Amino acid sequence: MSRRTFVMATLAAAALLALPSVVAAAPETALPSPPPTDNRSAMLPVELNINGKSHRLQLDPRTALLDALRENLHLTGTKKGCDHGQCGACTVHLDGHSALSCLTLAVMAQGKAITTIEGLAKGDTLHPVQAAFIKHDAFQCGYCTPGQIMSASALLADQHTRHGSAVEIREAMSGNLCRCAAYPNIIAAIQEAQRA
Ligand code: FES
Ligand code: FES
Repeated sequence: MSRRTFVMATLAAAALLALPSVVAAAPETALPSPPPTDNRSAMLPVELNINGKSHRLQLDPRTALLDALRENLHLTGTKKGCDHGQCGACTVHLDGHSALSCLTLAVMAQGKAITTIEGLAKGDTLHPVQAAFIKHDAFQCGYCTPGQIMSASALLADQHTRHGSAVEIREAMSGNLCRCAAYPNIIAAIQEAQRA
C-alpha cells in the first residue's frame, strides 16, 4: 500500500467513526406535540342516589362505584379487598340486589337505589342480619363483614332463597371470602336472621 493510499484510507475511516456523533448532533425532526390534556374536560357529571340521598359528582367515566363511594364520598364502610371481583368485600345493593361495587362503573349506577352498609340500619335499629352478626360473633378482624352483611341481607330479601338450608346459604354466600374463617358463625348468624 502506497503512502498516499494509506493516508486516504485512514481519513475515510476517521470520517466514518465521526458519523454517529454527527447524526446525534443533527437537529431532530420536530414531531407534532400532543394536544394538551385537560382532565376536567374528561370528567362527567354523575348523580348517585346513595342510602336515600342524592349526590352530584364530577367523575372520570372509568371510576368504579367502589372508588366513588370511598374516595369521593368518604363512605368507607364498603371495603376494597381484591378490587377484581373475587372477594365480595365491596358488596353493595343496587335496587335491592347485591352487586360488586369494584366491578360496577359509577356512571352505570345512576338511576338506581344504591345501599351501602352505612344505610342498612334504620336509625338506631340494626338490620336483623347486623344484629345476628353481633349475637353470633360472626367476625374477627371485621374487614369482610360489611360485604358479608350486604350479601346476606340481599339474599334474605330474595323470595327464592330466603328459606334456604345451611348448604344453600353457604353456596349463595360463596362469593364472600373471610380470611379469618368465621364461616360457621356467619352461617349461624344468617340462619338466625332468616328465622327473625
Ligand atoms: S373488592 Fe370487589 S370483589 Fe373484592
Ligand atoms: S372477619 Fe376477618 S376477613 Fe372476615
